[in-house]
Amino acid sequence: MAYSEGHCPARTNLTPSRPRRAVARRLPAVPLAVLGLTLAGAALGLLGLGGEVPGGVPAAVPITLGLAMLVAAAGVCAHHLVAVRAGEQLFHLSGWRGAPRPRRRAAVRRPPRATAAPRRPANRPEAEQVPARVDTGMVRAAAKEFLELFHGENPEAGPLGPRLAAVMREIDATGTYWHTSEELEFGARVAWRNNKRCIGRLYWRSLQVRDLRGVSDAGGVAGHCFEHLSAAHNGGKIRPMITVFAPETPSRPGPRIWNEQLIRYAGYDQPDGRPLGDPRYRAFTSGLIRRGWRPPEQRGAFDVLPLVVETVEEGPKLFQLPAQAVHEVELRHPELPWFADLDLRWHAVPVISNNRLVIGGVSYPAAPFNGWYMGTEIGARNLADTDRYDLVPEVAERMGLDTSHETTLWRDRALVEINRAVLHSFNLNGVTVTDHHTESRRFLLHLEKEERAGRTCPADWSWIVPPMSGSQTPVFHRYYDTETRTPAFTTDPDSTTRALQADPPAFT
Ligand code: ARG
Repeated sequence: MAYSEGHCPARTNLTPSRPRRAVARRLPAVPLAVLGLTLAGAALGLLGLGGEVPGGVPAAVPITLGLAMLVAAAGVCAHHLVAVRAGEQLFHLSGWRGAPRPRRRAAVRRPPRATAAPRRPANRPEAEQVPARVDTGMVRAAAKEFLELFHGENPEAGPLGPRLAAVMREIDATGTYWHTSEELEFGARVAWRNNKRCIGRLYWRSLQVRDLRGVSDAGGVAGHCFEHLSAAHNGGKIRPMITVFAPETPSRPGPRIWNEQLIRYAGYDQPDGRPLGDPRYRAFTSGLIRRGWRPPEQRGAFDVLPLVVETVEEGPKLFQLPAQAVHEVELRHPELPWFADLDLRWHAVPVISNNRLVIGGVSYPAAPFNGWYMGTEIGARNLADTDRYDLVPEVAERMGLDTSHETTLWRDRALVEINRAVLHSFNLNGVTVTDHHTESRRFLLHLEKEERAGRTCPADWSWIVPPMSGSQTPVFHRYYDTETRTPAFTTDPDSTTRALQADPPAFT
């Protein structure tokens, strides 16, 4: 449902050469020399002429970059600037250094027990902690915009005025502010509602929010992530859920989860050159091996990778997932008995774990969230993409299809059977899953409901249209509003790199 990975279901595995990714990756490396260009871009954006920069970066980005460059010119390195859009500008984190850490190979930890959140969250800043470098102007503006939205949509929360005044005082004193649990819950749900790539937004109000802002140590984060997996799995009746860990504050950055999702499978290079496991995570896997992870004696195609949690004090720490947190579905085909011999499986809950949740000028770098799977995410992408498990040729072969000509459409026919197997197996195991036809209709229903509520629903066609039989789904046959909104889930370029390369650490 919450389809994001990436983000959404359909397009998690775009090759890095796709323009939007390429642009995003280069952002932090933009040298000061382009300041002039950037400011010109900002001017365009301000005049409303910008639209979308090729590659999907919103017009607001040049504005923010321009501002970022000014900050940089004032003597602050822009490398770890964490926010990407105007109104979301947060704290500049490049100066963060943890306490000196011994340089040794990290041991893989046993799964920690999740502990209760402390009464006084370590991350909640004290008044005297606000460093001069915080641009409170942007935090104030973003907070105001969010509180207006919150009070506008939630009249029962009482009048805006007193809360706004209190938040402004808190920002002036500490450089940030602490959301009420109602604001946090609403903000997280609206971040889902605003996710242009997600086809499953009809249920945005049902997102369960676990408020763990008091947890900021690596062991605590890992333990609560494992609890998240079981709570979200819920015996197969999957619950959309988000766990929000400590925010960034001027005095301390929040924790980071390196993995793209809480459960991902290792990818290995074999001596014969053929990949084993998920090739998307080949570099990540070897990076973790270098950092001390020991893969199973007998390497397999579905070895669950350890979770990596990094904090400024502890550096990156690895945690093996406990078996009871890993729920998987073995794949069978409703009619083809040999399908079981392929020994395929997939995990039941997709929990995106390297996105940043941004609400009203406050930023939560560790906020893993999940919906349930749409079958094509697994059957038409993860198992079928040529740079993932690449199973189409083998399945076609076993089906006895004529693969000598593209015109037999053997690829399409094999793809359909892999996807039938995914839906069949999830259903058989009582694990929530949805098909792309049903989900497409639900999405259009969501659009109607949003319009009735006086809102438009931003959507990215290239992510919303399912990766198979697109034209058979109603979402194919129309255009969408594309503007970017906050609250939002965002992906920092450096977190994308870490999720694929296991490097470089966020705090070095
Ligand atoms: N596409 C990703 C995957 O295959 C999951 C993205 C989130 N999907 C979802 N249904 N919430 O693992």
